[in-house]
Amino acid sequence: MSDTPNTASTFDVEAIRAQFPALQQRVNGKPLVYLDNAATTQKPLCVIDAVNQFYRVDNANIHRGVHALSARATEQYEAAREQIRQSLNAAAVDEIVFVRGTTEAINLVASSFGSRLKAGDEILISALEHHANIVPWHLLRERMGIVLKVIPVTDMGELDLSALPALITPRTRLLAVNHVSNALGTINPVQAICAQAHAHGVPVLIDGAQGLPHGLVDVQAINCDFYAMSGHKAFGPSGVGALYARRPWLDELPPYQGGGDMIETVRFDCVRYAPPPAKFEAGTPNIEGAIGLKAALAWHAAQNWPAITHHEAQLLAAAAIGLQEIPGLRLIGQAAHKVPVVSFVIAGCHPHDIGTLLDAMGIAVRTGQHCAMPVLEQLGAATGTVRASFAFYNTMDDVQALVRAVHRAHDLLS
Ligand code: ALA
Repeated sequence: MSDTPNTASTFDVEAIRAQFPALQQRVNGKPLVYLDNAATTQKPLCVIDAVNQFYRVDNANIHRGVHALSARATEQYEAAREQIRQSLNAAAVDEIVFVRGTTEAINLVASSFGSRLKAGDEILISALEHHANIVPWHLLRERMGIVLKVIPVTDMGELDLSALPALITPRTRLLAVNHVSNALGTINPVQAICAQAHAHGVPVLIDGAQGLPHGLVDVQAINCDFYAMSGHKAFGPSGVGALYARRPWLDELPPYQGGGDMIETVRFDCVRYAPPPAKFEAGTPNIEGAIGLKAALAWHAAQNWPAITHHEAQLLAAAAIGLQEIPGLRLIGQAAHKVPVVSFVIAGCHPHDIGTLLDAMGIAVRTGQHCAMPVLEQLGAATGTVRASFAFYNTMDDVQALVRAVHRAHDLLS
């Protein structure tokens, strides 16, 4: 996500695009320019085919049947867990818990880890967080009386880590920050944050929803305690994701939900839970989603990442330069290290009006507060921004189409 070697010549974006059927369509009579990848990415054929194949041939519940279909479904589901382990470089496959996505992963930690906290204990988050890494801690504040503390953000949209030493106190129980901001694209120095927190004995949770789509993640190098991810932001299906947690945490923490598949024995006077990760996976999971996610992550891992990093840096630079020529346009968030996300406002133009006009021109962006109200309020964009978020299947033509369309929207609205 940060190196930019000159390997663009080895990156064939058209060959990548050819694998995405949804990118081949016209919208409102114009070729689709899909720039809402931070909300969800499109899916390559290998993912669509994997889900289709499961339903056509292998559909059965997992971990339950002795019959052939159940065995095949179980094998594929557990192979997906191993693929996630590889994609996050976790040390062991039983450190991967399947969840619905990043939001559920963070709620799991807030609920299980939070159940051991006492009133007055502190959780440290940042002002750059998505609501998914704010509201679960508010629930804990309301339920347990914990105290929420916040690492401030600079006007450039970067974490102000000079404030960190004073914010970590003997009552700090967990630090929870995102890897990459969904609203601004800022890449946070999560490895350094973990080192600082661990020096004070504070464990760290990383909201990785926007991290994996833009690079390879190594939870051992980051040295985090928990890492949450979503499949649908990384070219996989919706409704499936993973929580990575170091094994001692999974042994120590209580289950998040109760039900089938997470127990060893159940009687009316006692219950014995299954070992992790099953202990955290009650009920029938999103089996087809996990199988689609395996296909997505294997495809993702096989890409030329140095070339993609270079390509994404070029998209970001071109979009930022082109958009800033538009009168009255202000970029929100100009961190030194960013994934290709541009969030902006234009004086006198409502973000929703700009988004609606862009849609009429075939360009899909997100408008509004991006589930990140606090940081947008701080940066003077309380009514929201227009956010164009690129994936590596986007092209320089997409950037030019965006810039032309925003010029036109500005002319129409002012
Ligand atoms: N978190 C998603 C986004 O940023 C929905 O759009």
